[in-house]
Amino acid sequence: RGPRSLDGLSVLVSAGPTYEDIDPVRFIGNRSSGRMGFAVAAAAVQAGARVRLVAGPVALATPAGVERIDVRSARQMRDAVVASAADSDIFISAAAVGDYRPQAVSPAKLKKSGKALALELVQNPDILAELAAQAAHPFLVGFAAETNDLEHYAREKLERKGLDLIAANRVGEELGFECSENALLLLWPGGREELGMAEKGVLAKALIERVATLHAAARGK
Ligand code: C5P
Repeated sequence: RGPRSLDGLSVLVSAGPTYEDIDPVRFIGNRSSGRMGFAVAAAAVQAGARVRLVAGPVALATPAGVERIDVRSARQMRDAVVASAADSDIFISAAAVGDYRPQAVSPAKLKKSGKALALELVQNPDILAELAAQAAHPFLVGFAAETNDLEHYAREKLERKGLDLIAANRVGEELGFECSENALLLLWPGGREELGMAEKGVLAKALIERVATLHAAARGK
C-alpha cells in the first residue's frame, strides 16, 4: 500500500471516563463509553501511526495494533499520559477526565446515618493544560463537550489550554455520550471544519486526517 498520513509518527490517545473512589464500593465518574477515543486510536493505526491508548474503565476491546494502558483515576491517567508524552508526536485527549475527586478515600464502606452526607472534593490536575505548559510537547488535540454555545466555548478552550486542535461536540438530549453516532466541529487557530452526524469510526477517520494535515504543516514551519 502507498504512504499513509501518519507513517512514522507516534500517537498517544486517552479515552473513557475516570473513576474517583469515595470508598471501596463507590466512586464519582463521568458519563463516557470510551468509544470515540477507541475509534480515534483505531483510525490512527490505520493511518500508519504507532499508537498507545491510555484507557479509563471501559468495556471495550483493544483495537488491533494498539498498545493499551489501563488506568482508573484522573491522577493515574495523568501519570500514564505524562510518562508517554515525551516520545509521542501527537496527543489526542478524548478522555472524559473527572475534574474533582474526593479529598480522602474512606478505607471502609460509608454507612447511612439518616443525615445529609457532605463530600469534600478537590480539583484534579488538568492533563492537557499541564502538557501544553511544557516547553517541548506533542501536537495537542483536545475535545470539548458542551451543551450550548459550542463554537464559542470550544474556541475559548482551544486558546486557553494552548491546543493545536479541538474537537467539539454537543452533549445532552441523547447526544454524544454512550451512543455510536455523533457530530464534531473541528477548530484550530485560523480554521474550522464541520463533520456532520456520522458513526464515530467515520468521524475518527476525518479527525485523524485533519490532525495529520495540521501536524505536517506545523512541522514544516
Ligand atoms: O475543560 P474541559 O474538561 O472541558 O476540557 C476538555 C478537554 O481537556 C478534553 O480533551 C479532556 O480530555 C481534557 N482534560 C484533561 N484533564 C482534565 C480535564 C480535561 O486533560 N482534568
